[in-house]
Amino acid sequence: MIETKDQFLAPVGGDRQTPDTDREVISEQIARLAKTPEQFRQIDTFMKRRTHMSQTSELALTDDMYAPYVINHGFELGKLGKVDDIRDLRTCFEQTPNGSQAPLILEIGFGMGDSLIEMAKNAPNRNFVGIEVHEPGIGRTAYLCHELGLTNLKVLSGDAIALLTNLPDEHLDAVQLYFPDPWQKKRHYKRRFVTEHRMQIVARTLKKDGIFHAATDWEHYALWMLEVLDHMAIFDNMSGKGNFTPRPDFRPQTKFEKRGFDYGRTSWDLMYRKIG
Ligand SMILES: C[S@@+](CC[C@H](N)C(=O)[O-])C[C@H]1O[C@@H](n2cnc3c(N)ncnc32)[C@H](O)[C@@H]1O
Repeated sequence: MIETKDQFLAPVGGDRQTPDTDREVISEQIARLAKTPEQFRQIDTFMKRRTHMSQTSELALTDDMYAPYVINHGFELGKLGKVDDIRDLRTCFEQTPNGSQAPLILEIGFGMGDSLIEMAKNAPNRNFVGIEVHEPGIGRTAYLCHELGLTNLKVLSGDAIALLTNLPDEHLDAVQLYFPDPWQKKRHYKRRFVTEHRMQIVARTLKKDGIFHAATDWEHYALWMLEVLDHMAIFDNMSGKGNFTPRPDFRPQTKFEKRGFDYGRTSWDLMYRKIG
């Protein structure tokens, strides 16, 4: 009988970094993770790193002029922003031209923000919120929102899981997760954002018919996401079970994706509708 944390978290099939894309092995890996007791699963999906921050990014995080673009503006630099007291994202747009009832899209892990900014520019009637833990990206995105006069995009510093846990049911029209950290080593799979446990948290906050859209350039993670999401009764694969979605025109290339393409990698999109 498996009883200790180490036994639960031991990788299925060793810890080779070369991904095994056999669907049955992936299915076994997912099933085993799902059986892991709750206390062993509570682990971050990110690694907060100290990285260089440009003057403009720092300015945007510290000067009140940028407060309209950062929902938890004034969070302590070097620490994760506090989000567990946020109960509503719609009210943040009350004083903007779109108002609080416009379609609301949450992007998890927007990196340096280029693709999120592009999407917000291309869909002025929709409201966007991006959450990140990477301060230079949060600051840069807020700075550019101000430069571009964007009123339909706001960002947050913090852990998306902590935010989603306290949002009301059926709050969001869409959640997007583009090029999440692939956590390539088997012993790190538990850090992947897409697990059934975390996706239940996402699903609760989506409206009925709300969309979850993900993309990755890591084949094992692409198949992993397909396996996790296709088995969740609350989601309907918009391209049919077992299928990826052709890359939609509205998704701009992200910085991470571009780097992958430069190394000859491809990418996979997945789109699911909440049916519950
Ligand atoms: C590989 S990067 C991709 C960034 C961007 N989407 C792109 O494609 O260029 C993944 C990002 O997700 C962020 N991230 C991971 N887990 C997160 C979480 N729980 N909440 C907020 N951001 C998270 C990381 O900080 C990182 O910047």
